[in-house]
Amino acid sequence: MIRVPEHEPPAGAPHSLSSLGVVLVAAGRGERLGAGIPKAFVELGGRTLIEHCTSIVTGLPGGGHLVIVVPEASASEALGLVSHVIPSGPSWEVSVTPGGRERHESVRFGLEALHPQADIVLVHDAARPLAPAELFERVAAEVRHTGASVIPALAVADTLKHVAADGVVHETVDRAPLVAVQTPQGFPREQLAAAHDRLGSAGAIEGEDQPTDDAEVVQRAGGTVRTVPGDILAHKLTTSGDLALLEALLASQNGDPR
Ligand code: CTP
Ligand code: MG
Repeated sequence: MIRVPEHEPPAGAPHSLSSLGVVLVAAGRGERLGAGIPKAFVELGGRTLIEHCTSIVTGLPGGGHLVIVVPEASASEALGLVSHVIPSGPSWEVSVTPGGRERHESVRFGLEALHPQADIVLVHDAARPLAPAELFERVAAEVRHTGASVIPALAVADTLKHVAADGVVHETVDRAPLVAVQTPQGFPREQLAAAHDRLGSAGAIEGEDQPTDDAEVVQRAGGTVRTVPGDILAHKLTTSGDLALLEALLASQNGDPR
């Protein structure tokens, strides 16, 4: 694990939010986007996804420890990128650490690199570069308030249907109880770490059985997960169509009339 820069917490009593840890998972290959480089290093509006996310996290009030999980070969590139966007001052410590083959392994490695004093953890996909600070704060506040695991969720607006492999519609699905789930997802650190340890010790997981988010890891370990309202700005970059959508969202945020 590499640290940038070497900020020591101030001497004396730890401040209130130094207990916040953020694991930014950025170690995926980005195969569906097909950019030829890991997705977190793709640029949106002239800045990589890693820079967007680091800038938002290290602007959160109160400070804490941000661990950025990247492909091993990209660690020094990541360090160089984030050193430009970290605000000066001692409130956020930032580290870069290598990820694993699957997302849940990258999260586990990130948790292992997290400062021991972090007792609340937010896990965030670098692939959601415009997730606003308010969303991070809403999730963290709900974890603090309830002591439970918390995920941002959006109601599904489109009509949903079961479709067979041959493209033929079977039936319409009742969308009322369904939500689309985003990151950052927040957890009491002990609960998340125990759930990941349990998953890791259960042996190799076959393709379709991979958990795609941390709430699923917690639920498999028997934990309860609550929701807070999500945010359209936390849209995930998955394919090239998402890139166009995120560019438009960023431009409208910057007041750029298109
Ligand atoms: N991720 C990770 N380590 C992995 C796989 C994924 O850190 N082994 C991260 C990605 O970098 C991304 C987030 O998890 O920020 C969500 O994953 P996804 O959108 O699936 O990204 P990729 O795995 O990079 O994309 P793809 O599945 O298309 O290859
Ligand atoms: Mg993936």
